[in-house]
Amino acid sequence: MKATAMMVVALVVMVAAAVAGSKELSVDYYKKSCPGVENVVKYHVAKALKANRKDGAALVRLIFHDCFVRGCDASVLLDPTPANPHTEKTAPINIGLAAFELIDEIKAAVEERCPGTVSCADIVIYAARDAASLLSNGHVHFDVLAGRLDGVVSRASDAQRDLPDSTFTISELIRNFRRKNFTIEELVILSGAHAIGVGHCSSLRARLTAPPEQILPAYRALLAGKCAAGPDPIVPNNVRDEDPAAVAATIPSFLPKLRKLEFLDNSYYHNNLARIVTFNSDWQLLTEKEARGHVREYAENGTLWDEDFSDSLVKLSKLPLPPKAKGEIRHHCRRVNAY
Ligand code: HEM
Ligand SMILES: *[C@@H]1O[C@H](CO)[C@@H](O)[C@H](O)[C@H]1NC(C)=O
Ligand SMILES: *[C@@H]1O[C@H](CO)[C@@H](O)[C@H](O)[C@H]1NC(C)=O
Repeated sequence: MKATAMMVVALVVMVAAAVAGSKELSVDYYKKSCPGVENVVKYHVAKALKANRKDGAALVRLIFHDCFVRGCDASVLLDPTPANPHTEKTAPINIGLAAFELIDEIKAAVEERCPGTVSCADIVIYAARDAASLLSNGHVHFDVLAGRLDGVVSRASDAQRDLPDSTFTISELIRNFRRKNFTIEELVILSGAHAIGVGHCSSLRARLTAPPEQILPAYRALLAGKCAAGPDPIVPNNVRDEDPAAVAATIPSFLPKLRKLEFLDNSYYHNNLARIVTFNSDWQLLTEKEARGHVREYAENGTLWDEDFSDSLVKLSKLPLPPKAKGEIRHHCRRVNAY
């Protein structure tokens, strides 16, 4: 090879390394540079969930809300600043997003071990994976491909544009997912994440007056009762996580199904077929033939859902930064590095 050709090759390699979107992800990415990083993340996630299981759902939602907006680049973690007062996390669509302190705690532990090495974007994926695994007793599991860079751009308007709203119709949901190359089947699979966590009443307001074809009247009464209790209270996404008193007063037949611990499984699909789901977007899955077929399929086979949900999270985790977007390894997950 001639010297000039070699220089061109070297230049191409250097440019590729600087452009975040073109980086190759791999399971072994931190094998040499930060051995044991996954154990550090897992330790902190497990400790947090033991103290507060709700953090698990927050982490599972975080992977979606990060990756659907400018790819998986931790742009969702950036705090507003005077120079950029409207970061993604300030967007109305990101209402209720949480676990930011837990991510900070994990990042601090990882920085102590291997400074300036592990991106916040990778930490979000590791943490979501560990949370999903813990909440499902290991039934949801997958290897995380690592090597992402943290983005330097975060705009509330991007979050509003790219994330689906709970008021969406099935066509809007399908279009929203298709824009990110996700199929109807994957829309149904990923919506199963609503087996865990909570939502604000403002996110399900229209459900309180929806007709019986759309929501079991007894469940509607339960939600209405809870939502009348304050300006914008939260309710569990999964009726199984409801408090016994509310269930006893509205759907007593459901009392035996309540459980003490939030659990990530295919119960969302059973609830959906019984018209006992919180969001309009959940119910909408029954209004289209293919989507409805998949709801039935995953209601029937929980093992299949565990596997397909794991695969869909991996696909979600591969959403790249926009072409030519700048990337870095942030020192602190809430702010970009100073140049
Ligand atoms: C299909 C379109 C989706 C819509 C319209 C939607 C909408 C919502 C809404 C409105 C909330 C409640 C926010 C609040 O009021 O505080 C929520 C919570 C949640 N969502 Fe989704 N979501 C969708 C897909 C997903 C996906 C793909 C995932 C993850 C794979 C996910 C995971 C979660 C989790 C875990 C929670 C509970 C969060 C917590 O308890 O902290 N959602 N979602
Ligand atoms: C979706 O796939 C098309 C065609 O392969 C590709 O050009 C586009 O970048 C993909 N979009 C996303 C968000 O990955
Ligand atoms: C459920 O799905 C699993 C995983 O794909 C498969 O091995 C099993 O045969 C399915 N069970 C039924 C009853 O279809």
